[in-house]
Amino acid sequence: MARRLLVTGGAGFIGSNFVHHVMEHTDDHVVVLDKLTYASNKASLEGCPTGRVELVVGDITDAPLVDELFENVDAVVHYAAESHNDNSLDNPRPFLDTNIVGTYTLLEAARRHGRRFHHISTDEVYGDLELDDPARFTETTPYNPSSPYSSTKAGSDLLVRAWVRSFGVEATISNCSNNYGPYQHIEKFIPRQITNVIRGIRPKLYGTGENVRDWIHAEDHSAAVLTILDRGVMGETYLIGADGEKDNKTVIELILTLMGQDAGAYDHVKDRPGHDLRYAIDSTKLRTELGWAPKYVDFEAGLSAAVDWYRANEAWWAPSKDGVEAFYASKGQ
Ligand code: NAD
Ligand code: TYD
Repeated sequence: MARRLLVTGGAGFIGSNFVHHVMEHTDDHVVVLDKLTYASNKASLEGCPTGRVELVVGDITDAPLVDELFENVDAVVHYAAESHNDNSLDNPRPFLDTNIVGTYTLLEAARRHGRRFHHISTDEVYGDLELDDPARFTETTPYNPSSPYSSTKAGSDLLVRAWVRSFGVEATISNCSNNYGPYQHIEKFIPRQITNVIRGIRPKLYGTGENVRDWIHAEDHSAAVLTILDRGVMGETYLIGADGEKDNKTVIELILTLMGQDAGAYDHVKDRPGHDLRYAIDSTKLRTELGWAPKYVDFEAGLSAAVDWYRANEAWWAPSKDGVEAFYASKGQ
């Protein structure tokens, strides 16, 4: 039977990909609650069938609004967050407000209304791994976040766990690795470099570029979240990853090659303070217990499709390009 889902942060990168995924793979209706910060774009929801998606512009810390919206939905998928590490190093405060107080506000409503709640989080809560460490993160890895962003996400995860245990809220948590795909804000690594090349700006690599991220296509993330929403065990945490470990240098060189440039035509810029070295996800639990598997296993093909998307959708990202580059330039990046 068709459900009504409340999707917080549904006008952002991963949230909007999820809304499109729900439209394609279910009969569910979606209410998006989004504050429409700089990171959002209403245009990311264009193309959704009329009548099945409603956008409510508002803040997840607004308790009366949240309360009203919870009244009329069956389940909540919580994506809304301040999501960029570099911004959190510049000004941590909005990260505390949205990621901590916002999640608390939603949990209180879930408790009052008895609503099924799925919390979206990141592998960055686990800190980082050495480059030569054979280990990967699992659901039992101790939390050890490095940045204001990852520490507020860790705090939000712990709030969810406490609301499950203390108040019996029916919640699940997923911690996913780095996403790429359409609708990603160009402040993030991959779209920043693609749009740099389109604009004739040399791509920018932090430090030596040996840092490893475990890339997953946003579409695979969406399918995993829908799987957990449908079949996840209450109170459980699931790690989402697609065995996509790549160092940043390799990714930047691949982008340049795919875009017909010399693979070495990039600049080394100032490293990020506290820069996590390596993330790597072991998603065995999700695969074996819930039967999910990624479909976008060819990273080069996925990256090539992302390049095509940013080339075809310049109107979507162009208004923010100068501001993003001015911000990075002010930090020597
Ligand atoms: P994003 O920054 O692209 O989107 C965040 C959305 O939340 C935006 O639309 C913004 O307007 C909205 N928002 C922010 N503050 C709000 C508030 N107070 N009230 C209502 N809406 C608000 O982020 P993203 O990359 O799509 O990440 C979404 C979620 O996935 C986050 O919780 C993030 O921690 C998690 N995550 C991201 C990645 C990644 O690679 N980007 C990986 C794992 C997990
Ligand atoms: P980012 O997309 O910010 O994601 P996260 O910090 O959540 O991993 O960055 C991905 C990696 O790319 C990270 O190691 C930092 C690096 N990076 C660059 O080398 N150059 C850039 O211009 C940016 C934005 C990031």
